[in-house]
Amino acid sequence: MKIVTCVAPVNIAVIKYWGKRDENLILPINDSISASLSTDIMCAKTTIMASPLLKENKFWLNGREQTFDSPRFSNCIKAIRARCDETLPQFNWKISICSENNFPTAAGLASSAAGYACLVHALAQLYEIKGEISDIARQGSGSACRSIYGGWVQWHKGDLPTGADSIATQIAPADHWPEMRIIVLVVNDCRKKYSSTSGMKTTTETSTLVKFRAESVVNQRAKAMKKAIEDKDYESFAEITMKDSNQMHAICLDTFPPCVYMNDTSHAIVNLVHSYNEYKKGQKVAYTFDAGPNACIYLLQSEVEQFISVVNHVFPKPADIDAVEYYRGLTLPNKQLDKKIVDDLNLTPHDTGVLKYIIYTKVGGGPQVLGDPSEHLLQDNGLPK
Ligand code: DP6
Repeated sequence: MKIVTCVAPVNIAVIKYWGKRDENLILPINDSISASLSTDIMCAKTTIMASPLLKENKFWLNGREQTFDSPRFSNCIKAIRARCDETLPQFNWKISICSENNFPTAAGLASSAAGYACLVHALAQLYEIKGEISDIARQGSGSACRSIYGGWVQWHKGDLPTGADSIATQIAPADHWPEMRIIVLVVNDCRKKYSSTSGMKTTTETSTLVKFRAESVVNQRAKAMKKAIEDKDYESFAEITMKDSNQMHAICLDTFPPCVYMNDTSHAIVNLVHSYNEYKKGQKVAYTFDAGPNACIYLLQSEVEQFISVVNHVFPKPADIDAVEYYRGLTLPNKQLDKKIVDDLNLTPHDTGVLKYIIYTKVGGGPQVLGDPSEHLLQDNGLPK
């Protein structure tokens, strides 16, 4: 019997992936760049057991049994097994997989990226595979290839039709820019959304702007972003991050029918950030939005106290929600209102409950193996604990 448990990070892109040139292999039309977030705060966790005693392959995700046949899932398993030494005993054993996210999927936060990175990393441990695996994680969900590494990561679009060169590499490790923090403003939203997969498919079929982006914008932007990260040049980093998020959502509107992911609260957050930056006479805070209304704010630790004070003023916490429920993750500095900046900015507060909760986190490492057997999500018989 062989059992392995891993955790893998969520990643948030600052240069966005939006559009594929191959739907099956999941090959993108442009490079993208992200940071992997601390697994102490948000992560996917996966246990895989291989045993001669197991009668069939089984898979549970967030407490629910799944089939083994979904194309993306089975592509990952096939691709990993193709790299395994077939003389290893576990190659011929059935497997049990149990996977969960430690953050609510309702938050709409890149759960498939962390999940597939975790699955592929755990499978690679199980089948003792050394070497590149980000191209395999990519076949689960494009953005998952970036969660195979910690710190700052670039996904190279690649040129080969096989996808062998469409891999992720690390630009800089997690401790390269230790002051960087991320605040996720989870927006209350009950609207049913279209997935990134279907949204970006319609985009590549119908948008003319997306061609301009892939051909004439992203290459230069990715270079400038890489340099901003390497030089820890926050102002350039912030400007490119916001512009690239805005361009992705402009392209979503250029899609026919349009994909609308940001809502009124998202736009109010954009306004708040620009007012804040104008007041500070520089880019001190940066927003970015994925395929949903939640805002991810990248900012330096020195800015957190004042920024959160403004957020609390504009989006008041409902009195009936406990602070421990509302403020998640790392401990936020003094949450009292900074009266001066709030008065100077003169922003009108929204009703309470517009934000569901706030997650405070930082850049973190890549997937990890958890050695302690108490961490396993499976019992010795291969069923979930
Ligand atoms: C908006 O990786 O979820 O988060 O490859 O179809 O699974 P598929 O899409 P997915 O797309 C993520 C898009 C994004 C931007 C990004 O993370 O770069």
